[in-house]
Amino acid sequence: MSEKRNDSNEITRAYIDSLTIEQRLIDAVLPTAKTTILGKEFSTPVMNAAFSFLAQGHPGYPAEMAKGFGKAGALNMWGMSTDEEMEQIYAAGANTIEIIKPFADESLIFHRIEFALSHGAFGVGMDIDHAFGRNGAYDMVGEYMMEPKTVKQLESYVKAAGDLPFVVKGVLSVIDAQKCVAAGAKAITVSHHHGIFDGAVPPLYILPKIKSAVGDQIEIFADCGFESGLDVFKALALGADAVSTSRHILAKTYATGAEGVAEEITRMTEGLVSVMGRCGFKTTEEIDSSVIRKL
Ligand SMILES: Cc1cc2nc3c(=O)[nH]c(=O)nc-3n(C[C@H](O)[C@H](O)[C@H](O)COP(=O)(O)O)c2cc1C
Repeated sequence: MSEKRNDSNEITRAYIDSLTIEQRLIDAVLPTAKTTILGKEFSTPVMNAAFSFLAQGHPGYPAEMAKGFGKAGALNMWGMSTDEEMEQIYAAGANTIEIIKPFADESLIFHRIEFALSHGAFGVGMDIDHAFGRNGAYDMVGEYMMEPKTVKQLESYVKAAGDLPFVVKGVLSVIDAQKCVAAGAKAITVSHHHGIFDGAVPPLYILPKIKSAVGDQIEIFADCGFESGLDVFKALALGADAVSTSRHILAKTYATGAEGVAEEITRMTEGLVSVMGRCGFKTTEEIDSSVIRKL
């Protein structure tokens, strides 16, 4: 543990590690990791999280990353970006969801949605958890001011996105999850955005409560701290339909590009399949929380 207290990343890691798993081997078979996410089948429930500012010092890396996720048959997400960078990411061929910042200037949001619509995006969304800074003010990202969004505003983005599914990222309560359903979002990501908020509840703690409240009305993704197939299994067991891996994949693949990304996603997926097999689950949809034992 570091000197810092209430570090959400540390709380989250400790919570993931406190979850252990029963073994159910008799009659088990080799499972498949194929998973349907927002109506499309992918080779794995492991997907990218939203990243931004990666091109600084690593030109071409965002497109490499997208290519790697595509190569692994996985869903790609991307965060704050420019038109030019998003063009390169879309051209890399992966199914990509652009997560838009909660800009106070609404015209920027509608521009990004239109850009996604005209460039073949798989979906769009918003990281609503970037609204507040740590200084008692709305957050600034570069020159851009952020703001918290209302259900009505979210509804207007869902409407502008038309047939593209809208994902709300940064949900950490049943109340926000219910508001996302009310706004017409198709999915939420349960996340604290790598500790944007000290003392945040671990995503896997709140996930089952969100699942039982809205799981039949909206798809649920999880992120924060997932580094292995075992971690991914725990999230699926507690109610996630798919899981993002973020800083883990970054650190591993700056040097190795698309090949390295695809290899690491495949390695995590193989790890997931092994855990599923040991628990007697044949498909990712079958995985349930009955095998989880909290220490
Ligand atoms: C360099 C970097 C850039 C990020 N940029 C964004 C972004 O633009 N939009 C967003 O929603 N999340 C962004 N995130 C947050 C990730 O999507 C993810 O929620 C977070 O890192 C938690 O996952 P982790 O613990 O696996 O890293 C960024 C994270 C990193 C490390």
